[in-house]
Amino acid sequence: MLKRALEKVLTTDEIRQLYGSFDIIGDIIIIKIPEPLLDKKSIIAKALLDRMKPIKTVLRQATPVSGEYRIRDLEYLLGEEKTITFYKEYGCIFKVDLAKVYFSPRLSTERFRIAKKVEVGETVVNMFTGVGSFSIMLAKNQSDSKVYSIDLNPDAYNLMVENIRLNKVVGRVVPFLGDVRFVVKESLRGVADRVLMPLPEKAIDYIDVAIEALKLEGGVIHYYTHAHASKGEDPIKGAVKELEASLKVPHKILESRVVREVGPRWNQVVLDIQVGLKV
Ligand SMILES: C[S@@+](CC[C@H](N)C(=O)[O-])C[C@H]1O[C@@H](n2cnc3c(N)ncnc32)[C@H](O)[C@@H]1O
Repeated sequence: MLKRALEKVLTTDEIRQLYGSFDIIGDIIIIKIPEPLLDKKSIIAKALLDRMKPIKTVLRQATPVSGEYRIRDLEYLLGEEKTITFYKEYGCIFKVDLAKVYFSPRLSTERFRIAKKVEVGETVVNMFTGVGSFSIMLAKNQSDSKVYSIDLNPDAYNLMVENIRLNKVVGRVVPFLGDVRFVVKESLRGVADRVLMPLPEKAIDYIDVAIEALKLEGGVIHYYTHAHASKGEDPIKGAVKELEASLKVPHKILESRVVREVGPRWNQVVLDIQVGLKV
């Protein structure tokens, strides 16, 4: 799609440099443009807008995702001047403001994988919810479940509240604004059958909070991390080693998978961990 849109304005080699470095979220495209091609950003934006019909806005990712809220700086290039859009997946719709919150369409398959695991009557705690994407998909797939959903970023929290209404899961997805360490201590100790930790950069620092949120008899934690692997190495081994050094309660790894590549030799990995005295 990208190739066809750009073949009249860039060489094959230039297109190869851009390949894989774009996200389409609703009617907005975010593209990373490597330094040597920056002087062509206007013609790239025009070609994308002209040739990719659903796209109304072209933004350039100017910095990597960073900070507590996991946000990236975006430069407006062409089309409607906006950062808010609506994104649809698996029967859910999410309003997102790409300048103010984290959102990745690349986690769609992973969200659905977790959603299918939730059983009748489960209580889930999503520690790092963003605009509500994991939580809402879980609640829509399993109507007899409750998903307590926490985020520190007020903009993410406000969008989560809107998305809960949009997706008609009021009362089943329960929003909390604040630091998960504080929220769990105050309100969610020992409530969860399942805990989600979708903050790979820091999940290891909050593993004690995940344990605190679980019911006394244990439950499942979906633990996300970034793992480095040299050529031929298995990134999952590195992730397990990191976890084993910190998780001091009886546990068993039920499932593990590479979710996606996040950089050269770096992968996002998820470990599904069962925790509890009977494990
Ligand atoms: C990588 S994003 C994940 C968002 C969401 N799960 C998704 O996939 O779209 C991590 C989120 O965690 C939030 N966050 C970071 N530190 C936090 C903390 N200590 N307590 C609660 N939320 C936190 C950020 O604001 C951000 O929205």
